[in-house]
Amino acid sequence: MLNNLQLTTDGKLKHFLSIEGLSKAILTNILDTAESFTSVTDRSIKKVPILRGKTVANLFFEPSTRTRATFELAAQRLSADILTLDIKTSSATKGESLLDTLHNLEAMQVDMFVIRHQDSGSAHFFAQHVGPGVSVLNAGDGQHSHPTQGMLDMFTIRRHKQQFENLCVAIVGDIKHSRVARSQIHALNVLNTGQVRVIAPRTLLPEKTESLGVQVYHDLDEGLKDVDVIIMLRLQKERMTSALLPSEQEYFRQYGLTAERVKLAKPDAIVMHPGPANRGIEIESSVMDGKQSVILQQVTFGIAVRMAIMSIIASQATLAS
Ligand code: CP
Repeated sequence: MLNNLQLTTDGKLKHFLSIEGLSKAILTNILDTAESFTSVTDRSIKKVPILRGKTVANLFFEPSTRTRATFELAAQRLSADILTLDIKTSSATKGESLLDTLHNLEAMQVDMFVIRHQDSGSAHFFAQHVGPGVSVLNAGDGQHSHPTQGMLDMFTIRRHKQQFENLCVAIVGDIKHSRVARSQIHALNVLNTGQVRVIAPRTLLPEKTESLGVQVYHDLDEGLKDVDVIIMLRLQKERMTSALLPSEQEYFRQYGLTAERVKLAKPDAIVMHPGPANRGIEIESSVMDGKQSVILQQVTFGIAVRMAIMSIIASQATLAS
């Protein structure tokens, strides 16, 4: 099975490709390990020797600010050697295939690949073709999955709410094109979240959304009532092949998160956004910068969560070899 590719025969994490197929024990171990790494990231000397002598290659075929930078920092803080390939000036522009790029980098003794690619399934493809001692971490593949983002979002929620069982979490916006939403929904369900709501116009929902284990709302005001966590999503215009919305102004009127609308949620609700955010389209500036916003904390926690995932994979690779 495709998703079992990321586990060893005894159920340990070998690659990190998707939240699908991972157990509650694995997700909880990532969250607990990340908790221990937050103290490293708070120290004046932010380094531990866990990946000393290992090489991590960062391959970003799509733009990124947060994921690329925090993966780089995470690998540096684990003492790895980092190779960041500039795709725009790499031989991919001369027609070299993804597989040939991979094999050439493997010939440089890379131990871990971090890959973001516009094609769904690209990280799985990499994982199928790397050598036995090499691991692949998915930094976002097409509309399919962004599992490290999903995990840093779970870490942020747990930091603020301590548990998942009694929570109501609302994910708002362009669910249809969002790999982040898919990873969040899978993680929230594996962690037994009380209720997961998605709030979006019909045109921005995937087919059979309910089968993902969520409650669907089309009215934002109704969907936000008494929620503990609000997760806003960006309109992924680069993935829209036809006009799915009347206008951005109309979208903001119906689905934009304003300070007035935040009041519909519980008084201690937190506001999240994976970024990049478009102020005035899906979220009002005053909410993004407001006291309930934990958006920049998500970015900070991304370093500890990515350190945790890389260190867990490295320790299991060591055990296996
Ligand atoms: N959340 C996220 O994936 O942001 P970047 O595209 O900047 O990496």
